Amino acid sequence: MNDARPDVPLLFTPLKLRSIVARNRIVSSPMCQYASDDGGPGEWQLVNFGRFAMGGCGIVFGEESAVEARGRKTHHCAGIYRDSHIAAYRRITDFIKSLGAVPAIQLGHCGRRASQHGPLKDRATLTAADARDNLHPWQGIAPSPLPPTPGGAIPREMDLQDIRDTIAAWRDAALRAVDAGYDICEIHGAHGYLIHQFLSPVSNRRTDGYGGSVEARMRYALEVVDAVRAVWPQDRPLFFRTSAVEGAGGVWGIEETLALARALKAHGVDVIDCSSGGVGGDGPMPAVPRVPGFQAGYAREIRREIGIPTVAVGMITAASHAEAILREGNADLIALARGLMDNPNWPLHAARELGYPDPLELVHAREAQRLRLLEQHSREYPPGSAVAIPFGPAEQVGYSWTAGIAGDRDRR
Ligand SMILES: Cc1cc2nc3c(=O)[nH]c(=O)nc-3n(C[C@H](O)[C@H](O)[C@H](O)COP(=O)(O)O)c2cc1C
Repeated sequence: MNDARPDVPLLFTPLKLRSIVARNRIVSSPMCQYASDDGGPGEWQLVNFGRFAMGGCGIVFGEESAVEARGRKTHHCAGIYRDSHIAAYRRITDFIKSLGAVPAIQLGHCGRRASQHGPLKDRATLTAADARDNLHPWQGIAPSPLPPTPGGAIPREMDLQDIRDTIAAWRDAALRAVDAGYDICEIHGAHGYLIHQFLSPVSNRRTDGYGGSVEARMRYALEVVDAVRAVWPQDRPLFFRTSAVEGAGGVWGIEETLALARALKAHGVDVIDCSSGGVGGDGPMPAVPRVPGFQAGYAREIRREIGIPTVAVGMITAASHAEAILREGNADLIALARGLMDNPNWPLHAARELGYPDPLELVHAREAQRLRLLEQHSREYPPGSAVAIPFGPAEQVGYSWTAGIAGDRDRR
């Protein structure tokens, strides 16, 4: 199943992970929508994530879905912290599966990055004044009482009961994700959210068994993985998103990530999704430049050193670039976020560009039939073809479609 065929681009070679088969290696990367009311998804998510399945992606992630209400960044973040959320997610997974893609959920907890406005308001911290708009501020929790940014809100330091409670919340959310029909579960361990806050010495100053050495800082992440893996079906893959290196002023780098990836693999994680950034202070880490494929090198190191499948993500927009990353053995899957937002049919166009034998098999038969006609018409009469257009029955024009389609059969 994972063997490459010379006539099929690697990007379009199916990938089997445990019992789940993705029809190709294109992943729509997790994308927060800030469009939920009390956690649940609605029409926006159905259409937004549905369009990536319609466009031909192999794996379709939703958005970071909080495992607890207080683990949301904003009042409008998605969550899966109540059983009543399950039916709305099920509607989305059923639709994604009906289009031949694999539905995937990313579970998350923002920890100290709670109680904010969304990106359209520059993620400003909620204040008492926002309560007038029903946007009541709340206190985030974190391994240590340190604000996410200088001058930001101070989170409450988690005690051992908080640690136990949040781990139970990750487990319960994973159980709901099973009921909601997801085939892949990803644990969000990146971008400066709760798990990353435990991993980084910038945000974790604990002196108990969850802080200090890198092993102790990894303990929360591994306990979350154990709790989720215990209830996530054995035949379904578990992904973990990591910030392979921290942002500007961070400390955590690739050596720590390799140690983490080794442990994650031993604890039953199947795939490492390789991102970066999210925690920074006055450490020596420089900013990671946002150039094409800027995180693919992390995916390569983790894949080669640890022998675990990886996802490359970040400014991958050209099909030939995605194919080269796979061919060079740097990753097993290619994720896109903004590139798919720009063009939800990116997989179809990539298939054409890379010479996949039948690109239109990626889209629904209803669309494929019409797009075949579009292809045929475009081939026979490319732009600039000099063909007279009749304005009435008296005019005869020298024109024919080789397939002999005439009248209004094709206009319906
Ligand atoms: C609108 C938007 C929302 C995002 N939300 C999430 C998220 O919920 N979880 C996550 O891990 N990354 C999130 N990301 C990061 C993307 O998954 C991806 O890693 C990043 O955008 C780089 O890929 P790109 O260059 O193809 O956009 C988001 C990105 C965008 C553009």
